[in-house]
Amino acid sequence: MTKNWTILDLLDWTTKYFQDNCIDTPRLDAECLLAHSLNVERISLYLNFDKPIQEKERTEFRQLVSKRVTERIPVAQLIGEKEFWSLKFKITSDVLIPRPDTEVLVSVALEYLESLDSQAEVLDIGTGSGALAVAIANERSNVQITATDISGAALAVAEENSIRHNLRDRIRFVESDGLEAVSQKQFDLIVTNPPYLNSADLKILAPEIAHEPKIALLAGEQGTEILENIVSNAKDYLKVGGCLALELGEGQAEQVAVWLADEGFEKLEFHKDLAGRRRVISSRKVRSD
Ligand SMILES: C[S@@+](CC[C@H](N)C(=O)[O-])C[C@H]1O[C@@H](n2cnc3c(N)ncnc32)[C@H](O)[C@@H]1O
Repeated sequence: MTKNWTILDLLDWTTKYFQDNCIDTPRLDAECLLAHSLNVERISLYLNFDKPIQEKERTEFRQLVSKRVTERIPVAQLIGEKEFWSLKFKITSDVLIPRPDTEVLVSVALEYLESLDSQAEVLDIGTGSGALAVAIANERSNVQITATDISGAALAVAEENSIRHNLRDRIRFVESDGLEAVSQKQFDLIVTNPPYLNSADLKILAPEIAHEPKIALLAGEQGTEILENIVSNAKDYLKVGGCLALELGEGQAEQVAVWLADEGFEKLEFHKDLAGRRRVISSRKVRSD
């Protein structure tokens, strides 16, 4: 007789299988893939643990589980979606999967925007899926955002995400290498989570990273080249009093702080991620020179 698999059976079996195959978050991944295969929200799995799942429904799930283990494809790419700042973003292999750490940068941006009472102009350099631009625009109705990326394919995904959250009319998308094609020069706030790894960093990261675009991760031999470029040009694009807020890699904060100070930025502040690491630095353009 064939076994009658319930939701709970499938979750338990898959969690163990993922554990045995060194998947970092085995239960969460099993839940996300099963919810996706059944076309339900994750919470509904908990309310239907005893529900039997038919062979046909199990087939898609089995395929996803197999790809997760054998090819190490990240869950967000398998299901085409990732939650960031409590909003769902479309994800493809053309964009970086937004990380929870980057929510620190959203908080810093929102706090700065809170201090401005009028309409504000924000620039997001290297928008990827549009995570930062969409999250910020969704929280503050008085901001207009310019979102740039060197990758046209990434910009197409970001634009779709802006439409998904009814924010298309407040985000302008510009294909640009760094600040090159950004014509407007008077932003109140520049946010960026640029690539900040070098190829040695990449080798020690989880195998899933190989499925994300290299252009979203790598920034030259040091890993800090794009950050340095942004820091040395950003002042020309900020209003006096404007804020530059950068996400950076572990161990890069001191170096970036020196560059910011050399460029005349003031009021430098480090912001820590959940693990207590200094991952965001904010600074102000105080003078016009
Ligand atoms: C680390 S990802 C960040 C994506 C998104 N902002 C996020 O936080 O999830 C960096 C992004 O910068 C883009 N990028 C890489 N080099 C760039 C450059 N020279 N100028 C503009 N964008 C660049 C990549 O295509 C990628 O989308």
